[in-house]
Amino acid sequence: MTDIQALERQILDAIAGASDEASLETVRVAALGKKGSISDLLKSLGGMGADERKAKGPVFNTLRDRVAAAIADRKRALEAAALDARLATERVDITLPVRPEPVGTVHPVSQVFEEIIAIFADLGFSIAEGPDVEYDDYNFTKLNIPPDHPARQMQATFFVARQADLSRHVLRTHTSPVQVRTMLKQAPPIRIISPGRTYRVDSDATHSPMFHQYEGLVVDEVTNLGHLKWVLEEFYKAFFEVESVELRARPSFFPFTEPSVEWDLRCDRSGGQIKFGTGNDWLELAGSGMVNPRVLENCGIDSTKYQGYAFGGGIDRLAMLKYGIPDIRSFFESDLRWLRAYGFAALDIPTLDGGLSR
Ligand code: FA5
Repeated sequence: MTDIQALERQILDAIAGASDEASLETVRVAALGKKGSISDLLKSLGGMGADERKAKGPVFNTLRDRVAAAIADRKRALEAAALDARLATERVDITLPVRPEPVGTVHPVSQVFEEIIAIFADLGFSIAEGPDVEYDDYNFTKLNIPPDHPARQMQATFFVARQADLSRHVLRTHTSPVQVRTMLKQAPPIRIISPGRTYRVDSDATHSPMFHQYEGLVVDEVTNLGHLKWVLEEFYKAFFEVESVELRARPSFFPFTEPSVEWDLRCDRSGGQIKFGTGNDWLELAGSGMVNPRVLENCGIDSTKYQGYAFGGGIDRLAMLKYGIPDIRSFFESDLRWLRAYGFAALDIPTLDGGLSR
C-alpha cells in the first residue's frame, strides 16, 4: 500500500467513525482545512518539478475529491439520523380532547371589517392599507390641510415625538392618508377600500381615542357623485342586509373633497329597535365628496384628465348600529362575558353568498 492509499484509508476510517457533525468537522479540518494533510500535499505540488507534478497532481486531486465526497455523504447521514432522533422525542399527540371551556370568538369590529371587505370586493374594489403612525404630510398637508390651517383643529391629534430631522409623525386621525399612499404609487384607474385603525384625542360613549374607519377611493376619467351615491346605496343595503335603503345628501366640508357631501340613511327608531329603509328618522353615516383637484395634483395625478370620489365613515359606529351595542368603550374593555355575548364564531367567515352575519 502506498503512503497515499494509507492516508486515504486512515481518513475514510475517521469519517466513518465520526459519530456526530462536530467530530466529522474535526476530521474535515484535519484533512481539507488550511493546514490539513491533503491541503499540505496539494501545496507541495508547487515545489515539484514538472514531471513529478504531472504524475502526483491527479493522484492528490483524486484523493481530495474522494475524501470530500465521503465527508458530504457522512454529513447527510448524520443529519438524517439527528432529524429522526428529534422527531422521535418531539411527537405531538393529536388525539388529545378539545379544551372543554368555550372557545374564543371574533370581535364585532373584526367581523365588520370582514363584512365591509366582502361587500366592496364584490363591487370590484381592492384592499389598501397604510400604517397607524403616519407622516404629518400624508395625514394633513397632501390632503389640502397645510400647517396652521384651521381644519387641523377638526381632528384632535396625537403627535409622535419629533424625528431627528425635526419632522413630525402623527397617529393617523383618519384613513384618508391611504388615499395619498395609493395615488402616489398607483396610476388611475384606482378603486380601493381601506379599513383601518385611527386615533383622536376623544372619549365618551360614542367616541374612543382609538377607533376604526373605512375609506373608499375611486379615481378614473369619468366619475361623478351619482356613481358615489350608487356605491354607498349598494354598500348599505348589503351591510344592513335589507332590500332597499334611502340616502339623503347634506352639503358638508372636508378640505380634501370638493364638493363635499355627508350621507344620512332613512331609518325608523320607533319600538326601541332601529330599522332601515322606512321611517322618518335619519342616521348620519358617511363623509364623502369629489376628490379635491389639489389633492390629485399633490399626489402626482393630472386633475385635468382624472376625477375621483372618496368616502369614509366609522366602523365602530356601524358595528354598534348593526349589532345593537350601546357604548363604544365596551369594544375595548376586553371583558370576556361581553366578547362571548357579542363575538362571532371563528369559522363563520362573512360572504355575500353565504350570509354576512349569523
Ligand atoms: C373623516 O375622518 C374623513 N376623513 C371622512 C371622509 C373620507 C370624508 C373621504 C370625505 C372623503 P370625520 O371626522 O367626520 O371624517 O370622521 C368620520 C367618522 O369617523 C365619523 O362619522 C364617526 O363615525 C367616526 N369617528 C370620528 N371620531 C371618532 C371617535 N373618536 N370614535 C369613534 N368614531 C369616530
